[in-house]
Order: sequence, then structure tokens, then C-alpha cells
Amino acid sequence: MLQAKAPKGTRDILPSEAYKWRYVEKVFSKLCETYNYKEIRTPVFEHTELFRHSVGDTTDIVQKEMYTFTDKGGRSITLRPEGTAGVVRSYIENGMDSLPQPVKLYYNIAAYRYENVQKGRYREFHQLGVEAFGSASPSVDAEIISILVAFFERLGIKGVELNINSIGCQECRKAYNEKLKEYLKPLVANLCENCRVRYERNPLRTIDCKEKKCREYTAHAPALLDNLCKECGEHFESLKARLDNLEIIYNIDKNIVRGLDYYTKTVFEFISCNVGTQGTICGGGRYDGLVELCGGKPTPGVGFALGVERLLMEMESQDVLIPQPRGVEIYFAAVGGNAVNFAEKLVYMLRKRGISAECDLTGRSLKAQMKHADRIGATYAVVLGDREIESNRCVLKNMKTGEQKDVSLDSVMDRMLTGKMC
Ligand code: HAM
Repeated sequence: MLQAKAPKGTRDILPSEAYKWRYVEKVFSKLCETYNYKEIRTPVFEHTELFRHSVGDTTDIVQKEMYTFTDKGGRSITLRPEGTAGVVRSYIENGMDSLPQPVKLYYNIAAYRYENVQKGRYREFHQLGVEAFGSASPSVDAEIISILVAFFERLGIKGVELNINSIGCQECRKAYNEKLKEYLKPLVANLCENCRVRYERNPLRTIDCKEKKCREYTAHAPALLDNLCKECGEHFESLKARLDNLEIIYNIDKNIVRGLDYYTKTVFEFISCNVGTQGTICGGGRYDGLVELCGGKPTPGVGFALGVERLLMEMESQDVLIPQPRGVEIYFAAVGGNAVNFAEKLVYMLRKRGISAECDLTGRSLKAQMKHADRIGATYAVVLGDREIESNRCVLKNMKTGEQKDVSLDSVMDRMLTGKMC
């Protein structure tokens, strides 16, 4: 027999939760529009090459976590494990370099990673993110960080910590990689299999390994932040000055390297102890080489993505109030052909004017209809039968207070539209 069970690591977002999602999505999009970021929607799947190339061959995401399949045309396709690569591809493909720069985009996506499922870590998850292309200025780094600070503030979330770091450019990384390799040389045999490969191909990745023993061995490795070239050092200093100017509080965490290869210079994370073992609600940074790497002109870029599941977990643990949708405003309990016709038409007219109205759809008795009106939380109810239709009078009942009022049937619609119920 078919098992009615969602695949591991996926979740239904039921109506009792969906309004919360809609709320945070709406606050986010409104805020992004205030910052002059425009919405972009890209496909759920892309050519596998795009992620291999951008996220990086030696990352956990590419090595272990991608949902990759061959389509019927023989192409290798991957469900997006993150949003940046698709947006970069779109920026290039749609010639956005000819638009006034910086091009500032935001998105709201589902993403897919074959991960070990645990608190705050799913296989299908959702991200709210921004990407800004075409400016190398640390002011943009500070701007996107300020979006997040303003977002948390608007939602009423407190105490989420901002950690920043710089992982430099290709130049400083080349010299640093040599230093790191030197440090790891006597330890490399003890690292996990993946890290032994990373040691050769991309030593910085070893610092980001999730294996406990690798973390122990790399805990005291030299930090990239202490080995930046002049330009990257200045960029970081300038970012700090801009954050100070905006009075945004941050910690410097030399251990942030992020799990994706495309970052240059600034990297940052927002952390909370309420969202599972990883604690990261949001991560982002600068990726000045990525557009070129994906086939575009050299174009700096910077962005972030925030996990919606983790954000909602944080809101729940802080008891943040989310406004509930208004619900049904008026329920018409009707018996008899004429009354039912009248009720259905009135409900239709009210709905067209934006009032949430309901009537019976399952053939319930009058008593059962009133009980139903109560169960669905209708604010008002009206009983309609032949007598009410003939006399053009009815009883309008406030279901919350129990108060009843004899009114003309003709006036019900106006009363609902004007909110003047008495
Ligand atoms: P990321 O750090 O891989 O960065 O993911 C960003 C956020 O997505 C995480 O902080 C977390 O909240 C959420 N997230 C990631 N994986 C999962 C999961 N398995 N389950 C639940 N939530 C998850 C990126 O994706 C980059 N594209 C961010 C970026 C945009 N950098 C520049 N622009």
C-alpha cells in the first residue's frame, strides 16, 4: 500500500504555519524594496556544471549533498542547493551588466541539499536572500548586513549575533594556503578522507569540515584574517568603520570560512543558540570573482541567504508575536431553497468586495451550521430561513460576545462593508 509520508528531510507547511511564512516573506520583500532591491525568480534546477563551478568541487555541498539526475535529454541537472549561482547565471545570461550598477536583487526560494537531517537542518529548506552586483565598495557589504539587522528589528527578534571575517582574495589566499599546508603537514594523515584530498586541492576547505576530529586538528591553524594583502586588509577595515557608523554591533570570528568556494574578502554569519547545532540563521559574503568564473565580465558581487525555517525557530523560541490572519467575518446559516440561494449570492458579493464570508457547503442542519460557524471562528453569524427572506429581517449575532441584533436583511451587506454593525 502507498505510504502517505513525505520524503525524509521535507515538511509540509500547514495552514497553521503558512501565515507565519507569509508574514516574514512579506516583511522581507517590503524591506528589500525599501533598500531598492528588486525581486528575481530563477529556476529550481540548473545545469549541474553551474554548481560544480561556482559552489566548488571540493565543498561538502558538491561532494555529498546535491540532488543530481540525468534528464530524458541526457543532461545532468541539479536541484539548486543555494540561490547565488542561479542569480549569477541569470545576471550574465540577461545582460544585466548593461543596467545601472549596482544591480540589487532579492529572492525567496526553496533549496535542496542531501544532508543529515536534524534540528534546523532539512533536505528541502527555504532561503530569503539578496545579491548585489557591480560594486566593490565595502559600503555594499555594510548595506546588506544592515538589511538583516533592520529585518530582525522589524520582526522583533533580539540577540542574534553578527560575526564577520575576511578570507581575502586569490592573491592573499595563495600565500596563505602555503602557510596552512605547512601547518597541516604533520597532521594530514589524521584528517578525514575528504580533507586529505582538500589538503592537496583546496586547503582552506579543511577548516570548514564538519568532522569533529578535523575541527580539532584545524582549531589552531593560522587564520586568513592575519594574512590579508593590503587591499583586502583595507576593505575589511573600511567595512568595520561603516558598520560602526551604522552602530551595528559585530564580533570578529577568524574561523568563518563558509561552506562555499566563491567567497572573497568579506564573509559573515548571524548566529543564535536556538536554531540547532549549527546555529547559523544567515550567511553571506562577497564573491568578486564569481561572475567572471561563470562566463561573465569581471564583476564584483556580495550577498546573503537566510534560512526561513531557522528564522521561524528563532522567532518561536523568543515568543515573537506574528499577526494572525483575520479569518471568517460572517457566516450565513441557511435552510430552505430560497434562503440558501440568498445566502450563496450574498456570500459571493461580500467576497468580491473583500469581506471573508462563508455559508454551508455540506448540507448541515441549522444547529450544526451554527456550531460550525463557532468552530471556524466566524465573528458574526446570521440565520436565514423562509421567514427572514419574506420579512426582510434577520438576527445578526456577534459570535464573540453573544450579542444579537434584529436588522433588515438589506442592511447586512452595508454593515459588513462599513464595519458599522450596530
Ligand atoms: P549557506 O550558508 O549555505 O549560504 O546557507 C544560508 C542559510 O541557509 C544558512 O545560514 C541556513 O540558515 C540556511 N540553510 C542552509 N542549509 C540548510 C538546511 N539544510 N536546512 C535548513 N536551513 C539551511 C548560501 O546558501 C549562500 N548562497 C549565501 C549567499 C548568498 N552568499 C552570498 N550570497
